[in-house]
Amino acid sequence: MTIIETEGLSKRYTALRGEGTLAVDQLSVQVEAGQVYGFLGPNGSGKTTTIGMLLGIINPSGGAFRLFGGSSPAELHAARQRIGATLEYPNFYPYLSCQDNLRIVARVKGSAETEISEVLDTVGLAPRRKTKFKACSLGMKQRLALAATMIGDPALIILDEPANGLDPAGQREIRGIIRELASRGKTIFLSSHMLHEVERTCTHVAIIETGRLVREGSVDELTSARTVAAVGADGEMETLQRAVSEFEGAGHTRVDGNRVLVQLADGGLSELNRFLAGRGIYASHLSLERQSLEDAFMEITGAPEGFGEVQ
Ligand SMILES: Nc1ncnc2c1ncn2[C@@H]1O[C@H](COP(=O)(O)OP(=O)(O)OP(=O)(O)O)[C@@H](O)[C@H]1O
Ligand SMILES: [Mg+2]
Repeated sequence: MTIIETEGLSKRYTALRGEGTLAVDQLSVQVEAGQVYGFLGPNGSGKTTTIGMLLGIINPSGGAFRLFGGSSPAELHAARQRIGATLEYPNFYPYLSCQDNLRIVARVKGSAETEISEVLDTVGLAPRRKTKFKACSLGMKQRLALAATMIGDPALIILDEPANGLDPAGQREIRGIIRELASRGKTIFLSSHMLHEVERTCTHVAIIETGRLVREGSVDELTSARTVAAVGADGEMETLQRAVSEFEGAGHTRVDGNRVLVQLADGGLSELNRFLAGRGIYASHLSLERQSLEDAFMEITGAPEGFGEVQ
């Protein structure tokens, strides 16, 4: 079943003078039930605007979308009762505890209070349930926001940059919670500007740049479209990279620690080895690997400018 479908969805923010900003430009994507769908784009590429339109907070300027197959105002209203979502920054009452903030969310959603301890458990906040929101670390705030989306047992969870600003340990925790939700059969749509976060968390991905869809597909498809050879050799990595890039059939190359990664059109490891040996370079290490989402992205768009790293 298709859970989210957009067709030529567009948003232009109008300005008093000039043309305004075309934040989302003819976006057509499709999210199926059970997918963990990464909406990947650099800062300012239109992620929050798209989510805002899906949630009914921002009016589209063009195109259409369906949620759970419905697009009429009544159907969208009913569909949104089945969505748990966060938008931009986690926002709660600063003087209330985690638990009391969730009580308010439960009341608004008409959910039973018994759910609160369950969701606090899932995000690992049970021991800190009495901490006031203003005393929470950013990681705790993000986890509380995730807990709030789970109240009411929604079928679709939409998360706007759920790991934004977190350290590697915090990012890992959020990834674990998202995987746990996915294993319970939830459909998850998350926006991110971090390639590695999406690669590690998502089953599917849409890559957007300045409001436009660049590529949509499963993470598996994108990362197995090409093989990557990892080459290690003594000496300067830059020299090795230059030599590798001169090999016929070499695609994008990059230095990764003490090896050079190169996209190969098809296999060709022994030819590459012979080619390098012909130039007096003897590889100490040569292996085939799946390309990362970063490599796929580089091939599609040139350079991953504006994308953050994650460990
Ligand atoms: N209320 C607004 N009025 C005018 N322009 C806006 C408004 N909100 C966003 N924009 C512009 O629309 C574009 C897309 O912004 P949006 O916040 O959707 O991007 P984003 O992908 O969520 O970025 P980030 O990763 O920084 O959160 C940007 O150029 C932004 O400046
Ligand atoms: Mg945003």
